Amino acid sequence: MIIIRKFQPSDFQWVIDIERKVFNEHDPYLYMQFYETYPDTFIVADINGFVIGYVAGFLAQVGVGRIFSLAVDPKYQNRSVGSNLLKEIINIFRKEGVTEIILEVRMDNIKAKRFYERLGFSQFGIAEKYYNDGQNARLMKLKL
Ligand SMILES: CC(C)(COP(=O)(O)OP(=O)(O)OC[C@H]1O[C@@H](n2cnc3c(N)ncnc32)[C@H](O)[C@@H]1OP(=O)(O)O)[C@@H](O)C(=O)NCCC(=O)NCCS
Repeated sequence: MIIIRKFQPSDFQWVIDIERKVFNEHDPYLYMQFYETYPDTFIVADINGFVIGYVAGFLAQVGVGRIFSLAVDPKYQNRSVGSNLLKEIINIFRKEGVTEIILEVRMDNIKAKRFYERLGFSQFGIAEKYYNDGQNARLMKLKL
């Protein structure tokens, strides 16, 4: 059974392992800092004590939530884990008075674009050369 719950420090290694598997660019130390600063919007999906996905977000400004990172272990993708994580953080943001959620996703990440669109996000801009390898970011938002 999959449980969606808050991140706790003992989850750190799981999160780093997933991040390493799915992203080209990573910075493990950011996640502990993230937890210390934004513990309420750092959520994991847990199956029998194993963390299989996470979402980390924060209040970027009054009324605006931002998704910093979202990933599901490749072995557990396409089973709605990502959708459940995203829905949970949307609910938390809503309770915090957020009216708009923004995120950026690599231009070539078509799977993630489709995933976010299915959950109501739409593109509102492009950030040129946003990533270290020169790739552009697609800016997406969801109005709550
Ligand atoms: C993007 C990502 C988070 C999605 O996570 P996920 O757990 O696979 O997401 P879901 O299972 O909720 O949805 C993925 C697809 O599976 C489908 N799906 C979900 N449950 C399903 C089921 N029981 N049977 C069949 N299909 C199903 C969804 O309809 C969706 O299809 P779509 O892509 O055509 O819309 C994941 O692919 C990932 O970690 N990617 C690498 C990191 C990344 O790109 N992060 C986002 C950028 S920050």
